[in-house]
Amino acid sequence: MNLILMGLPGAGKGTQAEKIVEKYQIPHISTGDMFRAAIKEGTDLGKEAKSYMDQGALVPDEVTIGIVRERLGKEDATEGFLLDGFPRTIAQAEALETVLSDLGSTLDYVLHIDVDQDQLVERLTGRRICPTCGATYHVTFNPPKVEGKCDNDGSELIQRDDDKPETVRKRVEVNLENTKPLLDFYEGKGYLASINGDQEIDQVFHDIDQKLGGLS
Ligand code: AP5
Ligand code: ZN
Repeated sequence: MNLILMGLPGAGKGTQAEKIVEKYQIPHISTGDMFRAAIKEGTDLGKEAKSYMDQGALVPDEVTIGIVRERLGKEDATEGFLLDGFPRTIAQAEALETVLSDLGSTLDYVLHIDVDQDQLVERLTGRRICPTCGATYHVTFNPPKVEGKCDNDGSELIQRDDDKPETVRKRVEVNLENTKPLLDFYEGKGYLASINGDQEIDQVFHDIDQKLGGLS
């Protein structure tokens, strides 16, 4: 099953992606996670990406398309994938069409997690992540069993660098501008499925799962 997960920053893409890949056994390909891994490793890609991410801006298309093309060419992606946070521009969406057609593949669904914008700052500033396994929590909406510690491995939870209120606002603004043309693009191709993201985490997953049920 070949899926794209779309949604504004804080819509719950990472949270739902964890559940989708576990149930459907497909690799989770998050451009944000790939950039954060490159930053951690101190590579040239990481240095370049950081300069944009710290400002809440998009990393340039050539860079982003290149890493996704390479990742989709790996063997584990031939049986399906979940793209999270890509594409974010029409140029990226068009490049993805070319990559998939070169691989003899197509999309099944573009899941759009639709949320009320007013919720996003609270969701993002309260987010905590595990530096070891990548699990996502929220201090109020999805707290770990032991305060400040990951349920999976006990690691100390941290806050993402770009979750400061001013960066969050910029990220939402940038993404709002880019989202509508992308939704139109995928609606026109018949792939788009909108999911109400203003519900409890498990209910959002239930709705996604129902949508995908026929394909598992
Ligand atoms: P990326 O890592 O993709 O960040 P983002 O799109 O800003 O999305 P987030 O990860 O912040 O949010 P999410 O939707 O995953 O929400 P989450 O599940 O964590 O990208 C980061 C940066 O990388 C970009 O700004 C850009 O610079 C660069 N980049 C990445 N891809 C790129 C591309 N294609 N092109 C160019 N540049 C790119 O949930 C948020 C919080 O809310 C959590 O605490 C969670 O517990 C909580 N929560 C989740 N669901 C619910 C719910 N239903 N109810 C209550 N709380 C909830
Ligand atoms: Zn962990």
